[in-house]
Amino acid sequence: MYRTHNCGELRMSHEGETVTLAGWVQISRGFGGLTFVDLRDRYGITQLVFNMDEDAELCQRALKLGREFVIQAEGVVRERSNKNANRPTGDIEIDVKTLTILNGSKTPPFTIEENTDGGDELRMKYRYLDLRRKSLQEKIIFRSELAIESRKYLAEKGFLEIETPYLIKSTPEGARDFVVPSRMNPGQFYALPQSPQTFKQILMVAGMDKYFQIVRCFRDEDLRSDRQPEFTQIDCEMAFVHQEDILNTFEGLTKYLFKTTKDIELGDFPRMTYDDALRLYGSDKPDLRFDMQFKELNDLAKGHGFSVFDDAELIVGICLKGKADDMSNKTFKQLTEWLKRPQIGAKGLVHVKFQGDGSIKSSVGKFYTAEQLQSWGSYFGAKAGDVLFILSGEAEKTRTQLSALRLELAAKYDLIQPGVFKPLWVIDFPLLEWDEDSERYHAMHHPFTSPKKEDIVKMESSDRKVLADIRADAYDLVLNGSEIGGGSIRIHDRALQERNFKLLGFSEEEAEAQFGFLMGAFEYGAPPHGGIAFGFDRLAAVMNGSASIRDYIAFPKNNQGRDMMIDAPAGISREQLDELYLDTKNPNLSAET
Ligand code: AMO
Repeated sequence: MYRTHNCGELRMSHEGETVTLAGWVQISRGFGGLTFVDLRDRYGITQLVFNMDEDAELCQRALKLGREFVIQAEGVVRERSNKNANRPTGDIEIDVKTLTILNGSKTPPFTIEENTDGGDELRMKYRYLDLRRKSLQEKIIFRSELAIESRKYLAEKGFLEIETPYLIKSTPEGARDFVVPSRMNPGQFYALPQSPQTFKQILMVAGMDKYFQIVRCFRDEDLRSDRQPEFTQIDCEMAFVHQEDILNTFEGLTKYLFKTTKDIELGDFPRMTYDDALRLYGSDKPDLRFDMQFKELNDLAKGHGFSVFDDAELIVGICLKGKADDMSNKTFKQLTEWLKRPQIGAKGLVHVKFQGDGSIKSSVGKFYTAEQLQSWGSYFGAKAGDVLFILSGEAEKTRTQLSALRLELAAKYDLIQPGVFKPLWVIDFPLLEWDEDSERYHAMHHPFTSPKKEDIVKMESSDRKVLADIRADAYDLVLNGSEIGGGSIRIHDRALQERNFKLLGFSEEEAEAQFGFLMGAFEYGAPPHGGIAFGFDRLAAVMNGSASIRDYIAFPKNNQGRDMMIDAPAGISREQLDELYLDTKNPNLSAET
């Protein structure tokens, strides 16, 4: 037996017991005839003690142990004289009688401690060392718990866990596909799935009724802190359901996961239409942990000679509570510069400051009287000490800019309390989204999403306004301003699916070539169905207050999509290229130049 206990479990109740531990050497240090070794494993750290007077040779060997050596130690549990209250095992130590070195270790390239000195790329290259750090281990362990609890909940509700293929055909779901050349079919390629969308729908046609899968998805898109090229979904589909059934089932899953993994009770999730989310927060994933709803000022602010406002399609603002006296002209200038950066693209920022002494200061004081500005304040419910921030311009852009400012102010003025969770269902998404570049409609969610029954007639229109107005039975789950999941009720009728493809600019032949299998299946008794997919990595990260999903993935890619540990992607040999019928003349394709 390598060990009788792990490094996190021994307490005073074990005093006097002979135990064997195994793990990694965190540190070894000598002190007045004693050698102390901190032994670490996934469960914790236990102090080992070696006594010069008892066994000088053993004590010397212990002193020579390098960081990250793998050892086994047998000894007796005893009470520590100087206890360490910060460690669960801090009341005891092991008086070691036998030491076995199981394996040595080179000196690690960074310290394996909470505040490590290793940079990002270095830690990714030596991921196995980084993963020995407690904070990272805790995240991966949390993810494991989340997966196990998800399975428990879904199994209990009668869901079947069914795998779908990874080698499939391109599906247009917004991002680019990763493709895999086929050796047996010269010149042809598989695509890795962006999601198992069509397969789960086919499973409903096949009568499987309730499906789930914790499944890898692949999207060749630009990376951000909340996006990885391969990521995991809790992917689900149900037959004979309305939107309400799906929202209830997956609100239930989310509550269950919070309760079982974090002991947090979430109340019922509020719902907001897509239109309201944009009108009130300028975003389809509003962060409800803080207030600052948008208010539109067209009626109050137009017609007073301030041309920027007079010419704007929309004038809209937010009220920041209680910060007026903290904000100098310099602060407003900085915020204006921040908004003017190309990433945001605002033209300027108007502020109205209701100062503690009752006076009002504004960047548009020239154009509006104090009474007029006061009336804006009353409209916002502003009190002395509050500040209004107002943007104007083309409606959609202005809302997006103000949404960015709202988030920036919340971060800058610490408006978000840690440990607060605000879930929200955003519902009634539009079916279609006009794309200026390609001059055609894209599916806002995906092409299989069903329009609301009452809006189906609008699909016959050629008027862009009417088409833009079609609502879908599509919904997103938003948590703390992050899109955690999305889904929809699906089309299950061939004619309607054909109509939708036509709206999306597919010719009949293209639709048939790409999705003939699905539309064919719809002709053999497809039940009404719908589903949802949770971004599993995102859920794990957001549940722990992290903005980045990277640490919740055991082996993530860097921002260039590279795996730093195995050094992928990489070239392949000419023989492999030949076998795959790829252009062997292209020197960029091969590692052998
Ligand atoms: P959607 O494309 O909205 O829906 O994806 C579902 C959820 O997956 C997460 N997600 C990602 N997480 C990490 N990295 C990425 N690159 C990434 N892209 C998406 C998000 C998102 O909400 N087939 C549909 C689901 C359905 O209709 O049932 C789908 O994939 O949290």
